[in-house]
Amino acid sequence: MIRVLISGQRVDWDEYGEPLLAALTNAGIEAEVIHERMPRAPETIDYIIYAPWSDMKDFSPFTGAKAVINLWAGVEDVVTNDSLKAPLVRMVDPGLTGGMVEWCVAHALRHHLGIDRDVCRRNAVWDQCVPPLARERPLTILGLGVLGRAVAEALSSLGFPVAGWSRSAKDVPGVTCLSGEGGLVEALRRAELLILLLPLTPATEELMNSERLALLPKGAILINPGRGPLIDDDALLAALDSGHIAHATLDVFREEPLPGDHPFWAHPGITVTPHVASATRPDTAVGVIVENIRRGESGKPLLHLVDRRLGY
Ligand code: NAP
Ligand code: GLV
Repeated sequence: MIRVLISGQRVDWDEYGEPLLAALTNAGIEAEVIHERMPRAPETIDYIIYAPWSDMKDFSPFTGAKAVINLWAGVEDVVTNDSLKAPLVRMVDPGLTGGMVEWCVAHALRHHLGIDRDVCRRNAVWDQCVPPLARERPLTILGLGVLGRAVAEALSSLGFPVAGWSRSAKDVPGVTCLSGEGGLVEALRRAELLILLLPLTPATEELMNSERLALLPKGAILINPGRGPLIDDDALLAALDSGHIAHATLDVFREEPLPGDHPFWAHPGITVTPHVASATRPDTAVGVIVENIRRGESGKPLLHLVDRRLGY
């Protein structure tokens, strides 16, 4: 029998406890699924299902852990933890991906079509402004991983000329795939709409600084569901105030919840959403977790392993 610890808050236990045990049983894996207030010797835990708000910061007592399975796609809070020696797996979940595609398409279309301009009028002025077609609006996504690629494919299928940028070279049908510093310059120069879906690592922190924001075409729209520190906040405010960037829709922030006195709240060129672009959905994520435990138990390579050196 294996022992699986759900390390998080009460809500994680409520959402994952029973479904995970049922799915493991269905997969023929005899398991005990426990939470942190159920006393068990740490060295007897085989797998840790880890929520980013978990209080567990010292993994060293879990000497028998075969993997730590993160409940989020982003691993920046755990990847640098030196006490973690077991393999770290990030979340790839069809529900999480589907939610991100819907959110990005909605916010891209909001700006592309000028929906605010058309639905918010109260002055009885019949001012028709027919929006361009998607094919006339070059769009770039920084990050062509699980989420970036799915968003790129969805927006490309609507007709947007989509470019994507990643660390390693990619080939995504219908998407102009770029990489490297030269690729980044090209990706930014064409981006009337820019979506950030990069992980937060030492190499991506403040990637969008004033120099790179200046490469965007005048009037560009920035949409960030990636991580707050991908952007230099002051540089963004300056680019908005100068009119170089027309609007920024931000879902993620350096500090969350975004402090009440933060200038982003009141800025007319910024839309704040409270880190809701997407979320892991227990009904689809449980299958992914069980598949990784099944692999761990049968000696097969784990899926979605984090490269601790790269930080994602
Ligand atoms: P992923 O599959 O690991 O993809 C990451 C992408 O970023 C890959 O294409 C990777 O390039 C690229 N990348 C990483 N470092 C780079 C660098 N230095 N230069 C250029 N490209 C780089 O991650 P994912 O599942 O798509 O998730 C992406 C991020 O979305 C997460 O880390 C998280 O921060 C964020 N997220 C936000 C929400 C939300 O609700 N707001 C929800 C889920 C996730 P390679 O392909 O070459 O490796
Ligand atoms: C959410 O932000 C995630 O990283 O899954």
